[in-house]
Amino acid sequence: MEIRAQLPGDLGEVLALTRLAFGDEGDEVARLVALQASEPVYGSRGWVAVEDGRIVGHVALTDGWIDAVRALVPVPVLSPLSVLPDRQGRGIGGALVGYAVAAADAAGAPAVVLEGDPGYYSRLGFEPAEDRGLQRPSTAIPERAFQWVRLAAYAPWMRGRFVYPDLFWRIGGVGLRDWRARGATGVQVSTVTIGARDLPRLARFYAELLGLPVPEVPEGADWVALRDTDGWSLAIQQEPEQLRVTWPAGAGDQHMQIHLEIRADDLSAAVAHAVVCGASEAGYQPQEDVRVMLDPEGHPFCLWVET
Ligand SMILES: CC(C)(COP(=O)(O)OP(=O)(O)OC[C@H]1O[C@@H](n2cnc3c(N)ncnc32)[C@H](O)[C@@H]1OP(=O)(O)O)[C@@H](O)C(=O)NCCC(=O)NCCS
Repeated sequence: MEIRAQLPGDLGEVLALTRLAFGDEGDEVARLVALQASEPVYGSRGWVAVEDGRIVGHVALTDGWIDAVRALVPVPVLSPLSVLPDRQGRGIGGALVGYAVAAADAAGAPAVVLEGDPGYYSRLGFEPAEDRGLQRPSTAIPERAFQWVRLAAYAPWMRGRFVYPDLFWRIGGVGLRDWRARGATGVQVSTVTIGARDLPRLARFYAELLGLPVPEVPEGADWVALRDTDGWSLAIQQEPEQLRVTWPAGAGDQHMQIHLEIRADDLSAAVAHAVVCGASEAGYQPQEDVRVMLDPEGHPFCLWVET
């Protein structure tokens, strides 16, 4: 297997390889490859892995920037990386990444950035970038998927927001638009349910506190959901034997085991509103920018403001 620079005549073969490697996303990624090859303004450069005269793998770099306070720092983004399905698992992907990273290093780039599966790229020296102060260009990219490898020219001041070239935006190739909805692990919290001795009363309290429609609680119901808020919903469940929480709790007391953090625009206005709805302020207040409140059944919740 030989790795060499991608040539204009390779494009057809590289596009076919990309479609095969990426399956359902193949057309979108092939658009990226076509634009990289046809629009010199992006300065994209690619490499191909060749076996027996056939292109079996491909990788490309395109410059983005770290928007650091001291300077805008050009840093290449590695994307895409493809290996023919019947040639995967033989080190070709790893060799292409190594080749592209070495080329970036030799060209004086301080890092190579990418978004991808950390399970794969951590084996190739990449690490989560946000941990080191490089913010991802979009929250559509799961935080752990945004990675980089730092090179010889890296300096610690190269921190800040990473800016993608518009190429990636144009093909809609930034992040996973629905990853939050799907959940990065395939599981997601849909509802937080609060136990109540008096279900209608607590449902009314939280609905009024949060400005949601007060739900109808049918006769005999033991659970009611409040309207969805930002993809989450809050529900109240009848728990007639529930013990009242002590807060702060000492040994042997009924401890709270889960609580709500509710962000407020204005802390004192939010406290006043909560009190009107039926909450009370807890006697112990450990933080200035947070007010610990007790709902009508004594569950602590926090009102907090961004400082
Ligand atoms: C990802 C890809 C480029 C890897 O190419 P490859 O030539 O098979 O890679 P390598 O041979 O260097 O490494 C293969 C190893 O990585 C592992 N691996 C592959 N994808 C992985 C992942 N998402 N998480 C963890 N390990 C992964 C393989 O299981 C294999 O492990 P092994 O060596 O213990 O058997 C290739 O699978 C591919 O083209 N996939 C489709 C396109 C794609 O997803 N590209 C990356 C986009 S970010």
